[in-house]
Amino acid sequence: MWEMRFRWKAHSFMAAFLVLQVLGLVAGQGGKKSPWLTLSGKAPAVVAKGGFSGLFPDSSSDAFGFTYLAGSPDTITWCDVQLTKDGVGVCLPSMTLDNCTNIQFFAPNGTNTYSVDGVPTSGWFSVDYDFKTLGQVSVLRSTLSRSDKFDATLYPILTVEEVKTQIKSAALWLNIQHSMFYSQHKLNIRSYLLSVSKKVVVDYVSSAEVVFLTSIGSRMGSKTKLIFQFLGQDIAEPSMNITYGSLLQNFTFIKTFASGILVPRNYIWPVTSDLYLQPHTSIVLDAHKQGLEVYAYEFANDGFISFNYSYDPVAEYLNFVDNGDFSVDGVLTDFPVTASEAIGCFSHMGKNKSEHGNPVVITHNGASGVYPDCTDLAYQQAVEDGADFIDCPVQVTKDGTLVCMSSIDLMDSTTVSTSPMRSRSSVIPQLKATPGIYTFNFTWDEIQENLKPAISNPELQYKLVRNPRFKNAGKFTKLSEFLNYAKGKDLSGIVITIENAAYLAENIGYSVTDSVIKALKDAGFHNQTVQEVVIQSTNSSVLTKFKKQTSYSCIYRVDESISNADSASLADIKKFATSVAINKDSVYPRSEAFITGQTDLVKNLQSAGFSVFVYVLTNEYVSQPWDFFSDPTTEINSFVQGTGVDGIITEFPGTSTRYRRNTCLKLGNKMPNYMVPVQVGSLLVTLNVAALPPAQAPMPILNADDVAEPPLPPASLKPAVSIPPASQPSEGSPRHLFASFLLSLAIATVSGLLLL
Ligand SMILES: *[C@@H]1O[C@H](CO)[C@@H](O)[C@H](O)[C@H]1NC(C)=O
Ligand SMILES: *[C@@H]1O[C@H](CO)[C@@H](O)[C@H](O)[C@H]1NC(C)=O
Ligand SMILES: *[C@@H]1O[C@H](CO)[C@@H](O)[C@H](O)[C@H]1NC(C)=O
Ligand SMILES: *[C@@H]1O[C@H](CO)[C@@H](O)[C@H](O)[C@H]1NC(C)=O
Ligand SMILES: *[C@@H]1O[C@H](CO)[C@@H](O)[C@H](O)[C@H]1NC(C)=O
Ligand SMILES: *[C@@H]1O[C@H](CO)[C@@H](O)[C@H](O)[C@H]1NC(C)=O
Ligand SMILES: *[C@@H]1O[C@H](CO)[C@@H](O)[C@H](O)[C@H]1NC(C)=O
Ligand SMILES: *[C@@H]1O[C@H](CO)[C@@H](O)[C@H](O)[C@H]1NC(C)=O
Ligand SMILES: *[C@@H]1O[C@H](CO)[C@@H](O)[C@H](O)[C@H]1NC(C)=O
Repeated sequence: MWEMRFRWKAHSFMAAFLVLQVLGLVAGQGGKKSPWLTLSGKAPAVVAKGGFSGLFPDSSSDAFGFTYLAGSPDTITWCDVQLTKDGVGVCLPSMTLDNCTNIQFFAPNGTNTYSVDGVPTSGWFSVDYDFKTLGQVSVLRSTLSRSDKFDATLYPILTVEEVKTQIKSAALWLNIQHSMFYSQHKLNIRSYLLSVSKKVVVDYVSSAEVVFLTSIGSRMGSKTKLIFQFLGQDIAEPSMNITYGSLLQNFTFIKTFASGILVPRNYIWPVTSDLYLQPHTSIVLDAHKQGLEVYAYEFANDGFISFNYSYDPVAEYLNFVDNGDFSVDGVLTDFPVTASEAIGCFSHMGKNKSEHGNPVVITHNGASGVYPDCTDLAYQQAVEDGADFIDCPVQVTKDGTLVCMSSIDLMDSTTVSTSPMRSRSSVIPQLKATPGIYTFNFTWDEIQENLKPAISNPELQYKLVRNPRFKNAGKFTKLSEFLNYAKGKDLSGIVITIENAAYLAENIGYSVTDSVIKALKDAGFHNQTVQEVVIQSTNSSVLTKFKKQTSYSCIYRVDESISNADSASLADIKKFATSVAINKDSVYPRSEAFITGQTDLVKNLQSAGFSVFVYVLTNEYVSQPWDFFSDPTTEINSFVQGTGVDGIITEFPGTSTRYRRNTCLKLGNKMPNYMVPVQVGSLLVTLNVAALPPAQAPMPILNADDVAEPPLPPASLKPAVSIPPASQPSEGSPRHLFASFLLSLAIATVSGLLLL
């Protein structure tokens, strides 16, 4: 199937993918009116730019191959055609080879400066090398934020014919730029195109040059669609010297030589300079009136995305294909799987968000991906998004008011670090080694009057911020306000998270547990059954107390990454909790952002009778391992279908509730590949051995000692003001956990596959 030259390893997981691909062929359309507002009425096309270039180097064999293994058989393969000195057409993202190959290594002095459409450009140009010389050169990632691990595979540069013949199922789209530049270098890309189209079927040809498209128009077969690409509106089209912006006003003219147009996505949905969406333009409707198809480009899960989409790439595709006004005829993307999933599974679904179901969706600080943690706005958004449970992490103020705040340290979720209150920090080793500004040192009035909420930006190190226009929006929420708000809402229930109860009891003489029990009673939650009340804590003593004194259910949260839990620990947890929340790595351990295996923890917890929730899921693409394609929906799908978790704890509840309404979940074994959960370790298999991430230290197994805690100290023992006690070792000291061999086994299994 694959020539050695492709260096594609036909491992068992790949075979499995292929079988699924055949099974996954979507059943034929019925006779109903098409729900698509495309020109043809057919589903929008997915065009994979240089293959799955979001993951593998653009135009590498694995990029082309993986598109079909993991994606839809209907995907169109896009090749940016470049000509070599001896006139061979190769697929490479740019005619300067510096950023997409390792040519610098073979020809250190090979740079030249040429005029490209009037712009002096320096680099290693394809026209300076013959194909034989380029035979030694390998394709590399061209986007630095993507993994460099695949570069070690040393993928060869492929000719257009090789791409077409090796990936048999693919429709082929050739993108031809700079025909004028090639003629200056005595190469005729028009003749090349006509000759290659006699050897392989070319389904689409695109170019940003009017004269090039008009010159080939009559010579290509009628099966080839010619597509005119628009560049920036202010850029002059090189063959006519008219700006693309003015050509946009002249679709009748474009229709004379092209059957469609390819436009940057912001031509259709313009964004402001601060990346917020404006109303859509009429380009798609206007072009469709002229009989022109419209393809949109610049889609990438890890690219700039308007804040209106909350880092959810599926939401962006849906805005282009299923917005009620129009559907674009296709999208050009570096991440074809996400586009296929949006079109194939998430379009035209039920809009009824209030259908609660599986997986259970629990918020983490409300919809904190959209608005500041635990504010009224974050809770309103969560309810609007159809979350099942909204959560309140309780903290206490100096005057004994319980508030919902994500952290006991005001520095984490308020503007305190820029307020006069910032001088009132303290070092409390039991809570944190570094100085903190603690809720219990301020009255509720002081907090409300001097501070504003601050949105959490967990991926700030990658310069990814959340909803900046609303970064200080919303109001702080008292527990009583939270309870009153939740009461009438369409929610399965509420989650109250309690931490630091022992510290507060011992050091400020405050019993959080008693106060929460009283607040729930005051709000009427103690004797109703409409909404479930769930208490969550990492400390078994807190949950034990609730178990004794109330009938609320309890979630035991295990913050440490563990590979399993022994039976004694499970028996202990059973005494006070019905559910366990575990972190993502405890399910899918990872090394350098590659998944290395899958633990049995979910299965074992469920066998012991617990509901299992995984936390905390976020949408930002850097929060997902490479295996999930920078796609939060792929991550959710893997946890739900691949491991069977009962629920998800998330900062973006809208993405999770939309997931459970997707139409593909009903398909059973007809599930298209792009919605089949990711195969564990499948990416590691594609890596060159030299590039394998290091094995991590094995994760421990939870045991009874980890679960056991002394009972909560009474709150009245000490006066409110006291000298901080000498630092106790109990808090931060390493726990006694047994090592697990599970992970190393998983790695061994994966390495074993490499030897196949
Ligand atoms: C190559 O990458 C460098 C650094 O990212 C950038 O400055 C340069 O413009 C790129 N060159 C081309 C031809 O894209
Ligand atoms: C590249 O140029 C440098 C001087 O500019 C020269 O010393 C070196 O030998 C050249 N290398 C090759 C491979 O031509
Ligand atoms: C293109 O048109 C602009 C004015 O619209 C003119 O200034 C420029 O010289 C033209 N360029 C070429 C290459 O003809
Ligand atoms: C459209 O373009 C053609 C060819 O350049 C030109 O003749 C015609 O005047 C243009 N029409 C409009 C409305 O700009
Ligand atoms: C995008 O978000 C901003 C800020 O919330 C809002 O004003 C704007 O209307 C949104 N744009 C669209 C097209 O929904
Ligand atoms: C949405 O689903 C809920 C629960 O199934 C149902 O009660 C409600 O009537 C539905 N709303 C609409 C508009 O269909
Ligand atoms: C905050 O409260 C703790 C406990 O009462 C106390 O030890 C500490 O000195 C207080 N810090 C400030 C800055 O008020
Ligand atoms: C719930 O308890 C309150 C007192 O705490 C009482 O007034 C109310 O009638 C009770 N409601 C029901 C449904 O039992
Ligand atoms: C859990 O609570 C107990 C008091 O019941 C306390 O001694 C212990 O330090 C707490 N453990 C953690 C990890 O906070």
